[in-house]
This record gives sequence, C-alpha cells and structure tokens, in this order.
Amino acid sequence: MNGRVSYEEAYAASLNDPEGFWRERAEEIEWFEFPRAILDQDDNGAWRWYRGGKLNTSWLALDRHVEAGRGEQAALIYDSPVTGRCDTYTYQELRDWTAKVAGGLVDLGVGKGDRVIIYMPMVPEAAVAMLACARIGAVHSVVFGGFAPPELASRIDDAEPKVVLTASCGIEFDRVIPYKPLVDEGIALAQKPVSHVVVLQREQCAAELQDGRDYDWQVWEEAAEPAEPVALDALDPLYVLYTSGTTGKPKGVLRDNGGHAVALNWSMKAIYDVDAGDVYWAASDVGWVVGHSYIVYGPLIRGCTSILYEGKPVRTPDAGAFWRVISQHRVRSFFVAPTAFRAVKKEDPECLLKAQYDVSCLKYQFVAGERLDPPTYHWLQEHLPGVPVIDHWWQTETGWPICSDMAGLELLETKPGSPTLPVPGYDLRILDEDGRECGPNTEGAVVLKAPLPPGSFPTIWGDHERFEEAYWSRYPGFYLTGDGGYRDEDGYVFIMGRIDDVINVAGHRLSTGEMEEVVADHPAVAECAVFGVHDADKGQVPLGLVVLKDGVNVDAAELQNELVGMVRAAIGPIVNFRSALVVGRLPKTRSGKILRQILRKMADGEAFATPSTIDDPAIIDEVRNVIEEWRSP
Ligand code: COA
Ligand code: AMP
Repeated sequence: MNGRVSYEEAYAASLNDPEGFWRERAEEIEWFEFPRAILDQDDNGAWRWYRGGKLNTSWLALDRHVEAGRGEQAALIYDSPVTGRCDTYTYQELRDWTAKVAGGLVDLGVGKGDRVIIYMPMVPEAAVAMLACARIGAVHSVVFGGFAPPELASRIDDAEPKVVLTASCGIEFDRVIPYKPLVDEGIALAQKPVSHVVVLQREQCAAELQDGRDYDWQVWEEAAEPAEPVALDALDPLYVLYTSGTTGKPKGVLRDNGGHAVALNWSMKAIYDVDAGDVYWAASDVGWVVGHSYIVYGPLIRGCTSILYEGKPVRTPDAGAFWRVISQHRVRSFFVAPTAFRAVKKEDPECLLKAQYDVSCLKYQFVAGERLDPPTYHWLQEHLPGVPVIDHWWQTETGWPICSDMAGLELLETKPGSPTLPVPGYDLRILDEDGRECGPNTEGAVVLKAPLPPGSFPTIWGDHERFEEAYWSRYPGFYLTGDGGYRDEDGYVFIMGRIDDVINVAGHRLSTGEMEEVVADHPAVAECAVFGVHDADKGQVPLGLVVLKDGVNVDAAELQNELVGMVRAAIGPIVNFRSALVVGRLPKTRSGKILRQILRKMADGEAFATPSTIDDPAIIDEVRNVIEEWRSP
C-alpha cells in the first residue's frame, strides 16, 4: 500500500485486513519501540491499537523535526488580530519552549499520568502547555474558555488535576473577558482540591494571584529546567477532552498516544493533502477536538506550519479576516465550521473583501463541526472557484474524520449535503430501530462496526460503564454515533442531525439535557423541555418551553431573563440560550416521555405525524400557537 492508492483500494484494504493496513500506517511514524501487537483487546474488552509500542507524542511533534534538520522551519504562527500580534515560532523554538514549560510542570510535582487542566484563550502558551504535558506523560484536559465556572468545577472533580494552567483573560472581539475570577470560582465550587494554578498575565488584564497556590507563568517558566520527553506506552493516555452527552455530566473522552499519532499523521496527508513544510490552518479553538487534532497535534506531527488564530471570522477587523490570514501565511488547506462562513457571508454577501488578497495558495476548503447547509456550500463554491469545498464529518470521540472526500488519495465527485464516503478504517452502517441495515435513501441511526480505527477513544475517563452503555449497548458490536442519516444509491453518506439530546450551536456541541437540568431548578418551573431549533446564523439555537408550578404567577419576560441568566451562569455564554416560553402543558407520550423531536419539527415548520402514543393531541395546537407567536417577527 505504498505510493498513491485510490480511495477504493485504501478503503477495501482497511476493512479486509485492518491489522495489515494499520501496521503500514504505524510504520509511517517514528517509534522508540515498534508495537508488539497491532490490534487486541484490553481488560475492559475495548479494542486497542499498538500495544507495546513506545513513543512520545510531543517528541514526534517537535524534537523529531529538529533532529531531522527542520528546526528553523516555522512550526506555529500565532496570528492575533485582537491583540495586534503576529509571531512565528520555529520547530526549535517551540521545542525549547515546550521543554521549559514541561520542566515547570515537573517542578510542581506533575509526572506521568497526572492530570493538568488547561483553561486558556487562543494563545501559543495553550498549545505549548498541551505539548508540555505530552512530553512528560501528564494527561491534559483543555476546557474551552466559553464555559462557566460550574462546568470547570465538574471537570476538576472528574479529572482531579494537580495543576490548572490559565491566563488572566480572553479577548472576544474587542471585549476583554477576565478568566482568573472564573477559575477561582470553578476551583471554589469543585469538591476536589487543586494545588497549583499557573497564570499567564496578559497585558490586557492583570489577574490577582493567591499566595501559596498561584504562580505567575513567566516567573515559573523562567525558573524551570528543560524536561526531556519520556517514553510512553502507545496505550498511555494523552488527554481527556470533555464533551456533551445526553445528561448533565459531560463525558471525558480519553485519547491514547499511539493510535492518535498514527491516525493523525496519516490523515494530514490522506485527507488534508499536506506535507512537511505546508501551511495548514484550522480556525477552531484548542478547547475543541478540532483544536487538539488539527491546530496542535496533527499539523505538528506531520511537520507542517500550523496557524493559531486568536480572532473571529468577522469584526477582527472585518469579514475579510479569513482571506487576509490565508494570503499572508500562504495557507494550503483551510478548515473551519460552516457557521463561521455564514457570519462572513452575512457581512460580505458578495465576498468583495476577498479581492483585496491573493488567496491563490489555497488548495482546499474543509468544513466540519455541523451540517454544511447547501446555501453556504454553494456560496463557497462560487467564491472559491477551483478550490474543492470538502464537507467532512467527525466527532470528539473519533478524534479524526469518519467521512470525507480524501484530498490526498483522490477527489471524488461531491454531492451537496454529503460528507462523501467513509474514511478507510470506518465500517459505517445505517441501522433501523430493530438493528437491521437500512436500504439506500432510508434514514436510520449511523453506526460504526467495531473495531474503530486507531485514534478513536477506548473509554470514558473513569467511567468505562458509561462508555459501554452510551455507545455500545444500543446495537451490540456497533458504535452509536448519535447522528441520524442515510446513504444514497452510490453509498454517499448524508448526516441529518443528532438523534439524541445533543445540539450544535455555532459549531459548539451542547447538551439540551444539561440545560433542562438548570431550567428545572428555577423555583417557578414545574417541568421543562429544551430542544434545538434552526437558526440561520448559528445552525441551531436552544429553545426552552416551561410549565409553571400550580398557583405560581410570574411575569413571562422576567422569568425568561432569569432562566437565560441561570443557563449562562451554569454552563456558559456559548450556549446561546436566549428564549424560554411559558406553555400550559408539554406534549408527552402516555408513558410520560416528552416528545422533543415533535417540538423541534414544530418549531422548524417541518411536517410531523402526531404519534398514536400521545397523551392528549390537543396539546400540540396549544404549544404550536405559543411557538408560532415567538417565531413571528
Ligand atoms: N471565551 C469566553 N467567551 C466566549 C468564548 C471564549 N472562548 N467563545 C465564545 N464566547 C462567548 C461570546 O463572547 C458570546 O458571548 P455574549 O453572549 O456575551 O455575546 C457567546 O459566548 C456566544 O458566542 P458565539 O455563539 O460563538 O457567538 P459569537 O457572535 O461570539 O461568534 C462565530 C460567532 C460564528 C464567530 C463563532 O461562533 C465561531 O467562530 N464559531 C466557530 C466554532 C468552531 O470553530 N467550532 C469548532 C468546530 S470546527
Ligand atoms: P464534536 O464532537 O463537538 O466534534 O461534534 C460532533 C457532532 O457535530 C457530530 O456528531 C454531528 O452531529 C456534528 N457534525 C460534525 N461535523 C458534521 C458534518 N460535517 N455534517 C453534519 N454534522 C456534523
């Protein structure tokens, strides 16, 4: 399987002989010791790749390139329109910096297997912190800056970090958001103690440091001796990244070192068609899986130049920001969520700002994170002539794409609304309620047959039972993606949206179950339903329906304000929870289950059949009237 192979050959090889296929992919990275086994099962019965392999992901991402003579090549470009900074770090510089920060962690008593929470904005220190953990075998858990203190607290309680790394503030457009008070509150709310907090003091905002617990990043880093990378087992954890599930408690998706490095290295070439020296840009955040895989680890393992962008698609300073960055840094492959381009399109519908820049370097436009709506797809196609617009579908759990047109193998015919075909390694099926495979063009649950390829998660941190229950119990032997969809007569996959209580708001994955828990806490609320409704800009936004307790008399607008404030304080501003409507009753089945899918369809103006199991069909009209009134301008 060396040399250029067709998609079909690669896909067939990956399913017919997974061990042979992934052995070859493993030979494409450098190991301290090559694995003894390619695929086997661990004590939990979970499939594991590359047992016995010894490696260090940080060494692979940094030192190896320096040793190969690429030390002077740009590794990371920090482009920050919100601060006016644009700094380039070579592989040598990034390696040396990472070694110092790793040494700083060692000074705080952090060693192999210890957890470190990183709650930081998009500054290069965030990437360095991740790589520093990886260097010494510590397990990082990055928490997205838009999450509120209780979310941070629940992650502290679950991950039990020795150290929290943070910064004094983040910058949202022109707004400085102090982070340190959020961290202090998160630590205070947590049951588990945090011994040390290291704070990067940014010039936009000085944070107060607590004696004995908090350290000034600069002083701490300067005092440290560089730490060498340690040899880790392929199965050792690299990171835990929390993602939303159907309940209030986020799931700690665990990633191990070996499979992750192999899969990302291969994906950089096979999917994104980039090589060492190419400039690659994923305009996401290190707090999301895209940031882990395709801002930090993937591009660096491959030897690319990665861009870490602290800005927005618009208003930093304008809707030409993406074109400016692509042109200035000569980006070859660009990856972003469709919502970001919807924001650009709204401000610059004719895409006039692009004319100010030479973006001829751009060879591929990748999008993921949410459904690529056809208008955005066509807009991109129209304004990027000759540049394939590639929709690809994946999840935090898999860590890399499940379905994608594979630019580095061969580009297939695209169909709007489809992320094309399954990536080699993923045996994708569509199953009906009874576990039978659906025929072409019939919607069902999108599942993946075990074993999942390298890089996919082997467990949930500290809760393997939940891993089994949430993902593997519905259809034994198949991983439940949580997405619904179908394949057409050519096998093209169409992802139609979540079949659980997860929604996608501006490319951010959120749990409506968690929002319901917060709303239900209000003293006036008897019960509630929160579900995702279509939004032209953000893809989806949450809408809450609340039933008041008997005898309670509240002003609806006031109640909405209070609920919006509660959700924001409990989960964070990124939830975009802005509407809560009072209804007399909620539509339920006779067994008491709220009919959320029907509520969503109703709110989106889609057709739906009233189920025969409904408790009282008259409720449908009552609720519809309330939603229609809310929808009307
Ligand atoms: N730290 C603190 N607050 C944050 C934050 C962060 N890292 N990110 C977002 N927020 C806040 C915003 O300031 C906003 O606050 P507000 O309600 O007080 O105004 C709120 O969370 C909602 O943010 P968002 O929904 O992101 O809206 P926006 O108008 O700020 O930005 C986009 C819109 C399209 C620019 C932005 O959503 C975006 O870039 N999305 C892409 C997401 C992505 O890359 N996902 C990864 C998958 S590929
Ligand atoms: P996350 O784990 O945050 O990456 O979110 C994963 C979820 O986002 C998936 O389960 C899908 O619901 C959605 N998603 C991601 N990419 C796509 C895509 N290309 N098309 C449709 N939905 C997507």
